[in-house]
Amino acid sequence: MLQYFRVNVVGLVAGIVIGGVTLTSTGAAAAEDPPPYEGHIQCETEGDRSTCQIDLWLTRGYRAFSQCQVCHGLTGDGSTIGPSLVRKLREIDLDRFMEVVVNGYEGQIGVMPGWGTNPNVMNYIDQLYAYLLARADGVLPPGRLKRYDR
Ligand code: HEC
Repeated sequence: MLQYFRVNVVGLVAGIVIGGVTLTSTGAAAAEDPPPYEGHIQCETEGDRSTCQIDLWLTRGYRAFSQCQVCHGLTGDGSTIGPSLVRKLREIDLDRFMEVVVNGYEGQIGVMPGWGTNPNVMNYIDQLYAYLLARADGVLPPGRLKRYDR
């Protein structure tokens, strides 16, 4: 009985510590680095329907994404030849994104080409990252979006 009690107390304390650390680091990250799409999206909510529009800056990211659709799918959710970028952007950081998009690499699934010499991608790589992260974070729906700053 005593043994059982001890195990439980240890489990409880560990749970609280882990929970506390997770909360603190999430809060700090959110406070220090606003997501790169912040300030480029406007959403209106009517009842349970929310419609979002984007500015010219983020539209350039969506346009650059057209270079990726052939392998990563029309909506970026993946295809038979390329993984879902919506999921990938939740796993990798900005440094990895830049490295992969500039230089490419060969992995288990296949070859990801490098875009370092392609101005249609490189001139808008910040916007492309921001667009894909907004998709990954569930802030933007798939597909084309209207601009609010026309
Ligand atoms: C010719 C097909 C093709 C095109 C076009 C393409 N990719 Fe990829 N990409 C791949 C494949 C295949 C992989 C997976 C490689 C592996 O891990 O085996 C991949 C992986 C990735 C990853 C995951 C990196 C990681 O660390 O897991 C990212 C991010 C990515 N691509 C971004 C892009 C972006 C952005 C574009 C458009 C500018 C693009 N890709 C265009 C084929 C493509």
